[in-house]
Amino acid sequence: MLVRRTVRPRGPGVAGFLHPYRFPGRRVSPAATRAASGGAATGRTRGDNRGMNPLLSRLQPYPFERLRQLFAGVSPNPAYRPISLGIGEPKHPTPAFIKQALAAAMETPGHDLALYPPTAGTPELRQACAGWLQRRYGLSVDAATQVLPVNGSREALFAFAQTVIDPGRPAVVVCPNPFYQIYEGAALLAGAQPYYAPSDPARNFAVDWDGVPEATWARTQLVYVCSPGNPTGAVMPLAEWEKLFALQDRHGFVIASDECYSEIYFRDEPPLGGLEAAAKLGRRDFRGLVAFTSLSKRSNVPGMRSGFVAGDARILKQFLLYRTYHGSAMSPIVQAASIAAWNDEAHVVDNREQYRRKFAEVTPLLEKVLDVRLPDASFYLWAGVRGSDTDFARDLLAQYNVTVLPGSYLAREAGGVNPGAGRVRMALVADTAECLEAAQRIVQFVQNRKP
Ligand SMILES: Cc1ncc(COP(=O)(O)O)c(C=O)c1O
Repeated sequence: MLVRRTVRPRGPGVAGFLHPYRFPGRRVSPAATRAASGGAATGRTRGDNRGMNPLLSRLQPYPFERLRQLFAGVSPNPAYRPISLGIGEPKHPTPAFIKQALAAAMETPGHDLALYPPTAGTPELRQACAGWLQRRYGLSVDAATQVLPVNGSREALFAFAQTVIDPGRPAVVVCPNPFYQIYEGAALLAGAQPYYAPSDPARNFAVDWDGVPEATWARTQLVYVCSPGNPTGAVMPLAEWEKLFALQDRHGFVIASDECYSEIYFRDEPPLGGLEAAAKLGRRDFRGLVAFTSLSKRSNVPGMRSGFVAGDARILKQFLLYRTYHGSAMSPIVQAASIAAWNDEAHVVDNREQYRRKFAEVTPLLEKVLDVRLPDASFYLWAGVRGSDTDFARDLLAQYNVTVLPGSYLAREAGGVNPGAGRVRMALVADTAECLEAAQRIVQFVQNRKP
């Protein structure tokens, strides 16, 4: 999925890349940048990178790679069976009708494997996506120009940066901190510099847009929004969207709104979508805004790789062009099953109910011993552990055989602070009984821990 780009050297070129935020006025090598940000080496050395895209060496190890390193040499207590709250992979069963739609498509001429699918998707799929936007957010979008199917939101979030960023100009990509690591990799491989805007625990983990320096906004070409957020579960309210749109009008950047957790929520009101916010604020052409939506979590089909993007028709036209060359058309079979999934809401209501019941049982237990509360949305608990998050995760595995993800692995140090430090992410994706057992073990672990 990587794209080789020609990056016009800026000043010292890639090897002497100037990191204006962490090291004002100093030239640092990518390796030094990695070390300074607390990232372990990717295993790649300059030597085996010869002839390769040099930007690859700037990628950070994925959180689960770091977790493997943290757990190397740890022997989990064999008295307990392993429970993982580590990976954010839905575990509720895939609805039978989606599997049946997949199987039926195989036998349906025109939807089967005998054809190359169009990158833009079938009109039926685009219409199904547009219909869902109408029902979910009350939006009227043009299915022909304002919707595009994607093979899961991850590839699309990555590819989008390659489409919209002009590496010939100073390029900054602003992303939340903590954040979904694809944003950072997408920025780096597009030849841009990530800027990590921290989320503020005192304001329900709202991203501190006001803290981004004006000079940084001036160079910003792309902003990733993640609402509901991973790992915080926070939903961005309308007032924050208004602020971000005002900044966009001033500085001309594009907004990528990652909304893959939009259907798993715990409040009465469903999470506000980016396009919905734009429409409410009179930006009916969605200028400069593209929303990323996915079936993975909504319909428990992470293996199907299906989602869609919607928004600014001018940007989507270029995104389609990029995707045509990239070769990221969706399989006709997956398209057929996706139509069935987008057109059905009953399974989504049921799925949400399962999460609500699970969180209602698990959260009060953990609240007694950790700084945690029910999030707005998503399937994560983002818990303060009072102390080192990595020690917590390592000791918990050793003593109780429960895996959680250290929060510092999901964030970057910026301004001397890693906003994920002292927190862990717990994905409540397994069934309720297993999550409850994990919670009970965590309670014991915390209560027996020496301060
Ligand atoms: C915030 C966020 N965005 C996007 C994705 C990608 O999901 P998918 O590619 O399955 O749509 C994930 C997956 O965990 C995620 O947590």
